Amino acid sequence: MKRALLFCAALSAAPLIHAAEPDVAGLVKSCNNCHGVNGVSVGHSMPSIGGLSETYLLNIMTQWKTGERFSAVMGRLLKGYTDQEIAALATHYSKQPWVPAAQTLDVKLVAQGKDAIDRCSSCHGDTGVPDEDDTPRLTGQWAQYMELELAKYRDDALKMPHKKMRTNAKKLDEADVAAAAAHYASQKK
Ligand code: HEC
Ligand code: HEC
Repeated sequence: MKRALLFCAALSAAPLIHAAEPDVAGLVKSCNNCHGVNGVSVGHSMPSIGGLSETYLLNIMTQWKTGERFSAVMGRLLKGYTDQEIAALATHYSKQPWVPAAQTLDVKLVAQGKDAIDRCSSCHGDTGVPDEDDTPRLTGQWAQYMELELAKYRDDALKMPHKKMRTNAKKLDEADVAAAAAHYASQKK
């Protein structure tokens, strides 16, 4: 009798525990369609996200969900996710290894980029490894994606809440945007 009661208690508790924990393995399938397996992107305008810091991932996804931050795709998409799911996704991707993308870059641009990042390295480091958790890793990120993001920070019409990043992006000469992106894209560690 006692055993039967315990069994019933276990059964009724199980669905509650299940409902509280997001099914991360299921959720990442849709993310990986665009961002690649384990968040290692195979393409150009699509960023790699595996191995970015949990703080940065949570921050950027929350800003998209609340509409505080501009995006082409992610804002609309994340409105369909709960806060718990977003937190679980941030934890999941932060635990994946960061893999620099294998990409073909213009050697002249890469060389020009060494000087173009003078005002960037205090936060992003010389090779794109940041000091602070709120700053994304740029080492071997896709160059085309970084150019697109820099254009967003440089455009006052778009909501991009990080003021210091915006100020620094706007101080770049137009010709140095692609060069700075190429420099960080060319780094391996
Ligand atoms: C239809 C393609 C698509 C899908 C599916 C998708 N993303 Fe994205 N993601 C993008 C694009 C495009 C960007 C660039 C920002 C923008 O303009 O929306 C982006 C940017 C991001 C970034 C910012 C990376 C950085 O370096 O700043 C994160 C984090 C992210 N996505 C997480 C996710 C997660 C988690 C999922 C699954 C819930 C997901 N994405 C699903 C297309 C997609
Ligand atoms: C004061 C510190 C600081 C400086 C200086 C700085 N950044 Fe950033 N950068 C950040 C932070 C923090 C973010 C994330 C901001 C956000 O959440 O919107 C960022 C985001 C970025 C991104 C988007 C990456 C992604 O994965 O979406 C790129 C590209 C970038 N910075 C390049 C540069 C370049 C190039 C320079 C120099 C012209 C520069 N940054 C200067 C702090 C800085």
